[in-house]
Amino acid sequence: MRVTVSRRAHFNAAHRLYRKDWTDEKNNAVFGKCNNPNFHGHNYELIASVTGDIDPETGYVIDMKILKDIIKEEVEDAFDHKNLNIDVKEFENLNPTAENIVVVIYNKMKAKLESHLDLEVTLYETPRNFVSYSGE
Ligand code: NI
Repeated sequence: MRVTVSRRAHFNAAHRLYRKDWTDEKNNAVFGKCNNPNFHGHNYELIASVTGDIDPETGYVIDMKILKDIIKEEVEDAFDHKNLNIDVKEFENLNPTAENIVVVIYNKMKAKLESHLDLEVTLYETPRNFVSYSGE
């Protein structure tokens, strides 16, 4: 029996969408207000879903405490109240779009999970705009 276990998390972070190798004109044309050089913030919401077989001894797919600690270390401690462009090394040369953020979060979390567990991460940049990644 494969069951999915999910946990919600939250972080606040600032970012700016632009490419260093493009002109100001091109960055403004493509990214608009998101290219504001003074940055802007989002209240990011996250759902991390772990799928696997129920352990017959514990009855767990994953101990929620383990999932909670992975989210705290890899997402909240790493991103909360940070400027993604400046403070987070993964975005030094990677545009911090929701798409790229969700892939970075997935890769950081997947590395900490037992290899038989599948992961899907959904990231809300606004209540209406969200992206998902499951490693495919
Ligand atoms: Ni933004």
